[in-house]
Order: sequence, then C-alpha cells, then structure tokens
Amino acid sequence: MSNPSLLILPGDGIGPEVMAEVRKIIGWFDARRGLKFDVSEDLVGGAAYDVHGTPLTDETMAKAQEADAVLLGAVGGPKYDSLDFSVKPERGLLRLRKEMDLYANLRPAQCFDALADFSSLKKDIVAGLDIMIVRELTSGIYFGEPRGIIKEGNERVGINTQRYTESEIARVARSAFELARKRGNKVCSMEKANVMESGILWRDVVQEVHDAEYPDVELSHMYADAGAMQLVRAPKQFDVIVTDNLFGDLLSDAAAMLTGSLGMLPSASLGAPMANGRPKALYEPVHGSAPDIAGQGKANPCACILSFAMALRYSFDQGEEATRLERAVEMVLADGVRTADLMQAGDTAPASTSDMGDAVIAALDASL
Ligand code: NAD
Ligand code: IPM
Ligand code: MN
Repeated sequence: MSNPSLLILPGDGIGPEVMAEVRKIIGWFDARRGLKFDVSEDLVGGAAYDVHGTPLTDETMAKAQEADAVLLGAVGGPKYDSLDFSVKPERGLLRLRKEMDLYANLRPAQCFDALADFSSLKKDIVAGLDIMIVRELTSGIYFGEPRGIIKEGNERVGINTQRYTESEIARVARSAFELARKRGNKVCSMEKANVMESGILWRDVVQEVHDAEYPDVELSHMYADAGAMQLVRAPKQFDVIVTDNLFGDLLSDAAAMLTGSLGMLPSASLGAPMANGRPKALYEPVHGSAPDIAGQGKANPCACILSFAMALRYSFDQGEEATRLERAVEMVLADGVRTADLMQAGDTAPASTSDMGDAVIAALDASL
C-alpha cells in the first residue's frame, strides 16, 4: 500500500519559513516513528502568481483534490496589494477552500500554562483556556452573489451578499455538535439574528439539528457582538463556538490573542469524507504572511507545527502522535524558549524560527 499523501503549499512571507520547521518535524516522525508520507510541494498565493500569473493553477488545484491532506503556510503581502482582485494571493486560498468544499474550519484556542502570563488579559481569565471555534468556511458573505463594485448614478457601490442555505448551516452545526461530544459537550452558536435574516435562519437550523440529533449536547445562542465581548470578558465559559464565515474570521483572531500570540494558533479545514473515509482536509496556521517580520527568521513556527499535529489527528488517525507533538511544543514553552512574538520586557534574546523548530525536535526526542 502506498503512503498517505501530503501536499505542502508554503506560500508567501513567513509561510516558507515556518513550513521549513514543519518539514523537519515530518522528517522526525518518518525517522523515529516510522510514519511515512508521500510529500510533494507546490506554489500558492503570490509565489504562484509570480511564476504562473495566477495564485493557484488548475494543476495545483487538482493535486490538492487528490491529496490525503494539504498543509498551507500563508499567502499575501504588500507586493501584491495592487493586483487585480481576481488574481490576489488570497483568491488562491479561497479557491482551495471552496473547491475542496472545506465547510468546517476548526480553530482551537488553547492557552498553554507557560504563556498564561503572556496574554493581554489577566492570567486567571485565560489560564487553562481550551475552546474550539468552528467557523463555516465555504459560504456566507465571502462567496454570496450578487457581489462586485458597480456604478449607480455618479458613485460606485460595493456589494457583498450574506447567503446561507439550510443544508450549509446544518452540516457545520453537525461538525460542532460532534466535536462537542468529544470535549465539554457544550455548543454556543453565534449570529446576528436581531438584524439579519440569515442569522434568524442560522439560529433556527442549529436549534433544529440540536433537537433532532444532539439533544444531549448543551446548546446556547448568542449575538455575535455580545459573543465577542464575552470572549474577552470570560472566555472559559465556552467549549465549542459555531459561527459563520465572517464572524468566525474575526472571533478567531480575537481568540488567538487570548492564547498569547497569533503565532500559536493552528487550524484544520475539513470537508466531507473521501472514498477512504478520511475528510478532505487543509491544515494551516490562523496567522497570515506577516510581511513585517518576513525574511528575518523571527516567525513563530508553532501555529504551523500544531497545524501538522491536527493533520496527524484528523487525517491520519495518529491521535497519540499528535498529542506527542502538542506536548513537545508545550514542553519547549515551559522551558522558556520564546520567539520574538512571545517575549516580554526583560526577556533575553529571542529564539529564531529554526531555534524553535530544533527545540521541538529535541523535546520529541525526549518523549521517546
Ligand atoms: P498577519 O497574521 O500576517 O500578521 C498580523 C501580526 O501578527 C503581524 O504583526 C505579524 O508579525 C504577527 N504574526 C503573525 N504570525 C506570526 C508568527 N507566526 N510569528 C510571529 N508573529 C506573527 O496578518 P496581516 O498583517 O493582517 O496580513 C498580512 C497578509 O497576510 C495579508 O496579505 C493578508 O491577506 C494575509 N493573510 C493570510 C492568511 C492566510 O494565508 N491564511 C491569514 C491572514 C492574513
Ligand atoms: C484567514 C484569513 C483569510 C480569511 C484571508 C487571507 C482570505 O484572514 O484564514 O483567517 O479571511 O479567511
Ligand atoms: Mn483571518
């Protein structure tokens, strides 16, 4: 039998820098745990535009559809800001999500003990935090029609449409309830049912799926603005949060700061099961290409490393090895290894991106 396939798309900015550390980790699991992957690498985002004039070629799209899992670094950067909207780096990522139909974006926000002091919130508010944001990823205002910039009389009008079908809401709700059953058994659904029809439908459908299929899971509903407030006031009240594409984008960046740094937050984007029973899947850090620190060896590779841990768990049935990798990251942080984003006043010189990767490898060695 052939090895499971892993398509790596490093992308732009710090994407290739953090991905280089993940390659070391993949090498370690191969050499020390006998976990073999058929790894291939390709271009996405600005890197693909520079070579092909498009942020994602049809060939790369086809490879992603075939792969057992895709691992992506980050896309975008100031160099591409003035490009036409249709070929911007971000369009490559959005095409991958849409065409692979990766409707459930899992964004865990876990506060490692060693970083509890580092959050911008007080330690007792974040210590022990472990929440999972499930963001709908293939619909809503990101993809709704009509969209565009049109001329109305003498002025331009920018149009985007929030649109959700019942089945789109129901399937992501199921993902959230399934996850909750394996965690704290609680789901909070967030929308703006007070002002948006799509929010009214969202609330109704989540409630219906709950009542018919998951009555054992505790369900609550919150307006997304109040949810944002509660997320920073008392985040530990939440277990799983399920929300739409745009609210999920905002809430997950806010949640990232509860954990100390955007550089710590991984994500998994999952679709329907393939013929082999595994979900279609793309794993990526929540952060972007961080142009302000790109090329300086300063990036924190943990979010990307932890995204690979999610791949081990959700795509490759390697839950124990995923936990081994997560513990290794935790151990490194507990030992005080810090990239620049995790430094506080008075700290000594920061670890570089590759120092951090090497420290994780050393912690993996120590786990054997
Ligand atoms: P960003 O996440 O790239 O950076 C925000 C801030 O966090 C910056 O100060 C950056 O230095 C810091 N940061 C992010 N990741 C870090 C890491 N691993 N280690 C240390 N510090 C880190 O967001 P932005 O600046 O708003 O966006 C920059 C570009 O990235 C834009 O083109 C945007 O569209 C794109 N973007 C891409 C993705 C993605 O590929 N999934 C996600 C978000 C933004
Ligand atoms: C994210 C990013 C993307 C999004 C962009 C780069 C398209 O912000 O993954 O959170 O808005 O979904
Ligand atoms: Mn975002």
